[in-house]
Order: sequence, then C-alpha cells, then structure tokens
Amino acid sequence: MKPRVTIIGYGTMGRAIGKALEGKAAVTPADQGDSIASAKAADFAILSVKPQNSTEALAEIKKLKLGKKTILVSIMAGVSIKKISSLSGHDKIARVMPNLGLSVGSGIAGWITYGLSAEEKKKVKKFLDMIMENFEVQKEDDINKITAVSGSGPAYFFRFAETLSKAAEGLGFSPEEARRLVQKTFHASSLLAENAEYAELIKRVASKGGTTEAALKVLKFDKMTEKAVRAAYKRAKELNE
Ligand SMILES: NC(=O)c1ccc[n+]([C@@H]2O[C@H](COP(=O)([O-])OP(=O)(O)OC[C@H]3O[C@@H](n4cnc5c(N)ncnc54)[C@H](OP(=O)(O)O)[C@@H]3O)[C@@H](O)[C@H]2O)c1
Repeated sequence: MKPRVTIIGYGTMGRAIGKALEGKAAVTPADQGDSIASAKAADFAILSVKPQNSTEALAEIKKLKLGKKTILVSIMAGVSIKKISSLSGHDKIARVMPNLGLSVGSGIAGWITYGLSAEEKKKVKKFLDMIMENFEVQKEDDINKITAVSGSGPAYFFRFAETLSKAAEGLGFSPEEARRLVQKTFHASSLLAENAEYAELIKRVASKGGTTEAALKVLKFDKMTEKAVRAAYKRAKELNE
C-alpha cells in the first residue's frame, strides 16, 4: 500500500517532495490556511515550513494531535528534535536535511530519528529512498552540519556560476553566450567529478605555467569556503533559539 503523506508547508521544498512522490504515495498538501486534518491518519506528516514559522505550525499539529503511528518528518533547518517534540506533543520524529537536488531526482539527505522502533526506522529509510539518496547520522548536530554543506550547497554553486557568468560578460560575451559557456562547463565538470578525485581533476586541467594555473593562483577559495560553511552551521544552531 502506498504511504499516506501530508506535506505541511507547500513552498519550494514541499512542492519538490510532493512531485518526487508522484505515483509513489498518496500526498495531501497543506499550505498556510489549509486544513492539516489529513496529517492525523498519515504515515508521514512532513513539516516543510520555514524555521521562522515553526512555532505556529507545531502548535497547529499539537492541536490536531497526530495519530500514534504517524511519523512527523521535519526538514526544517536548525529546529531541534527536542523543540519539535515539545511544541508538537508528538514523540515519533525524523529530522531530515535534504537539498533542492531532489527536485531534479538528484537529492542528498542526512537523517536522524527519535522515538522510533527499528521497524519504524526502516519505514523512514524506505520512504526517503523513494525521494533521494540518504544516510542516517548518529548525532543530531550532524544535521546542522549537513545543512551547511549540502542543504545550502546548491546556492554556493549558483553564486559561483553567477559570478563566472558575470566575468564572462565582462570579457565581452553576451549574457546568453556567458550562460551557455558556464552552464555547459559546470554540467560537464559535475559529470567528470563522479569518477575521479577533485585534486586529480584539477591537475588534468591545470598544466604548469598555463592559464588555469594563473587563475587558480588568484582564486583563494579555501579559507573563504571554510568560513562560509562555518557561518551557515552557526546560523543553523541559532535558528533553534
Ligand atoms: N529551499 C531549500 O533549498 C531547502 C533545503 C533544505 C531544507 N530546507 C528547509 O525546508 C523548509 C522550507 O523551505 P522552502 O525553501 O520550501 O520555504 P518556502 O518556499 O517559503 O515554503 C514554506 C511554505 O510554508 C508555508 N507556511 C508558512 N506557515 C505555514 C503554516 N503554519 N502551515 C502551513 N504552511 C505554512 C508558506 O506559505 P506562505 O508563503 O503563504 O507563507 C510556504 O508556502 C525550511 O524550513 C528550510 O529550512 C530548504
């Protein structure tokens, strides 16, 4: 039997999950102002509102009182299991950190559960397997770390693509030409990275004394990226407050 799923918060991620579940689950979306009644008898109630809206959404869930078998799945950045449990009054919880990749069938998620039997944990794994690649973590804080790496990660990539595209325009290419050059390069690079180490791939492109080496001497990413990821991790922890 297909799992019954209620998605509370039908924005970017809620919709992406709804789409990924098409034909695989009986999905009821519930956006702001919609009834969340179907969550009571659902196998999975997915909470995909912004962390800033978590208090009101969890209060609605508490008012509804989820069924004993329902697993409350939160994909919210930062909001802890302790907070989710105390504000919802529910004690079967999975905290999952996916990313936007799931909207194109290429998502990755980390997850951890609370109050679930071994059987229920298997059910969560089976459910997540339908949507995206995933793995279980042992410490809840790892969910905040995953948020900083792969949850926010697509935006780091888009920002770099955007700046490279602007640099290409600065060299005189039209916006369309710049986008084509960047898009095709990044797509191919991602495919190449499937089967080789990053350092090895860099060596394949950058020959000694060449153009790439000249650019890489200027691109001082290491410290900046580390700082950026730490800032996202710190923010994920603050969001619980
Ligand atoms: N976007 C990402 O790439 C990403 C990746 C991983 C995890 N996440 C997490 O996923 C969650 C959702 O992010 P998002 O980007 O999808 O945000 P979003 O596009 O703003 O979607 C949130 C949706 O929740 C609705 N909503 C607000 N309060 C509600 C309530 N009380 N009951 C029902 N629906 C309510 C909003 O409706 P209105 O617009 O009408 O307010 C909106 O449609 C966040 O907690 C975020 O941390 C996001």
